[in-house]
Amino acid sequence: MLYGGQSSEHSVSCVTAAGVLGAIDTNRFEVVEVGITATGQWTRPVIDPRSYSFSGDQLPRVEPTESTVALHSGASGSSERSAELIEIHPDGTTTSLGGVDVVLPLLHGPHGEDGTLQGLLELAGLPYVGAGVLASAVGMDKHFMKLAFQAAGLKVGPWETITARQWAQDPEAALERVKRLSLPVFVKPARAGSSVGITRVDDFAQLDQALETARKHDLKVVVEEGIDGREIECGVLGSRGGQPARASLLGEIVVHDGAESHQFYDFTAKYTDDAAADLSCPADLPAEITEEIRRQAIIAFDALDGEGISRADFFYTRDGEVVINEVNTMPGFTPISMYPQMWRASGIEYRELITELIELALD
Ligand code: DAL
Ligand code: MG
Repeated sequence: MLYGGQSSEHSVSCVTAAGVLGAIDTNRFEVVEVGITATGQWTRPVIDPRSYSFSGDQLPRVEPTESTVALHSGASGSSERSAELIEIHPDGTTTSLGGVDVVLPLLHGPHGEDGTLQGLLELAGLPYVGAGVLASAVGMDKHFMKLAFQAAGLKVGPWETITARQWAQDPEAALERVKRLSLPVFVKPARAGSSVGITRVDDFAQLDQALETARKHDLKVVVEEGIDGREIECGVLGSRGGQPARASLLGEIVVHDGAESHQFYDFTAKYTDDAAADLSCPADLPAEITEEIRRQAIIAFDALDGEGISRADFFYTRDGEVVINEVNTMPGFTPISMYPQMWRASGIEYRELITELIELALD
């Protein structure tokens, strides 16, 4: 099991790992925990990942260690298992941590949920839970994700993308394009998650600052027109034997009006301010809207060629329209996160969900 990672969602991954380790069926699975530090070192845990939570003063993180963990691929094909984990000590000696049958990459954001790690695991010949290289990469890039959704006939909101090259060559032209959008707009790093680096802009005078904030996380930025609607989510779980993927009952994010410090469902509202928002599941919606959103969640999963797991996030507008915002190919996965809650409401408990995801990866 991999957790932590080189992304601004490092701490979210740690808490996800705590949830999964607390529930995984240890009669069936022997877990080898490998933490990835914020700078990318693979480690044996110094801190028991089961202890991670968002309740302390500091965000949880994986501590660096003197020894490093490495994945050794059994490319010779002679061993029963295709890969093993080894610990490399500071003096250069190594210890085997055992063979690996399947990887549970509980990583959110760049270098974990974006296809890079998935590429490494493909090269190592190892099965892993969740989306493959392409689906992970497209699901991490808000620009290409919208193109894939549009191609599949789903409705996305108006947006503009500013690539690093466009910004370097002609920032005025980029700003002009963005200013044609209606306010408010949301300025986002194209490839990040958990609302990190996102600013709500109510006046274009704030645009420069918002772009600078987003560009700290990704030189590619998307600017989306704000959509006035309810935030509805749907969990998708892969299937076997060529069957269509399964869609859960829906959940709704209800951001409290009184939470003035949160102009939207930002990182703090998501994880550290319990009073800022509620997750309501199943969402109170007309039956035909519920079915329509579940149908679109499957279309979105297929549009990216998803596998195993994904959570599709929608707006249900005041005009009664369904607009897709994004999918997450490794959604927050603590027992109280929306994805497991939606499956619990749909009849699949957390432990069973973890087992199912691992079995899908091994299928
Ligand atoms: N990116 C976070 C983990 C989520 O979508 O739940
Ligand atoms: Mg979202």
